[in-house]
Amino acid sequence: MKKVFIVANWKSNKTILQTEEWFQAINNSPVTFYQEKKEVIVCSPFTLLPKVKELIVNCKLSIVVGAQNISPFGEGAYTGEVNGRQIKELADYVIVGHSERRTNFYENNNLIAQKIDKCFKNKLVPILCISNLDQVQGSMFNVNKQEMLVTYEPLSAIGTGNPDTPENADSIALKIKKELKDTPVLYGGSVTSKNVKDFTSMPNIDGVLVGGASLDPLEFLKIIKNA
Ligand code: PGA
Repeated sequence: MKKVFIVANWKSNKTILQTEEWFQAINNSPVTFYQEKKEVIVCSPFTLLPKVKELIVNCKLSIVVGAQNISPFGEGAYTGEVNGRQIKELADYVIVGHSERRTNFYENNNLIAQKIDKCFKNKLVPILCISNLDQVQGSMFNVNKQEMLVTYEPLSAIGTGNPDTPENADSIALKIKKELKDTPVLYGGSVTSKNVKDFTSMPNIDGVLVGGASLDPLEFLKIIKNA
């Protein structure tokens, strides 16, 4: 049985109080948090990382913490940035290269490669998001012996309720694996508890990145269960 990654991408959502409510709902749910061979990762905004970590420990949940960004620099005079060493105190994964950052913050592959390098240097696992194969071609990402996840998210599927077909996502996942030495490949874009299994049952898809549907704790629990 393959290992399945289920990643919540909260984007720029939730306050501390809402985070407490989300974990309380997960903890109180009769749906069992059964996840043998499932790695559940919650990627919250930076402001919530300490609270997320604390709640996971208090609720004794097997959830791993992820961040949604990382500075391309180290420590020093970089106003507004959060560096890899700081993130490593709280998280183990980092989403890098999400299309919302490529579009709204003009992130390009050079910057993304620097961020991935900072992940590796700080023993953080990057979750590299791409929306087309060009973004991984040319092997600009040095994946040798370093753990990394890639998420394929077509732009037309993000936040639209219009997911890719599992067959197409699977064929892209296979191409990504060929390019990046069998790196696990996730699918993202309008994943719900109803369609998650269609994706995770495909031979080349190793998990899902869930945006909108991860904000609702009970829906996210169902996604974990059905994945
Ligand atoms: P969505 O977002 O699940 O809301 O479509 C996915 C993502 O952008 O990571």
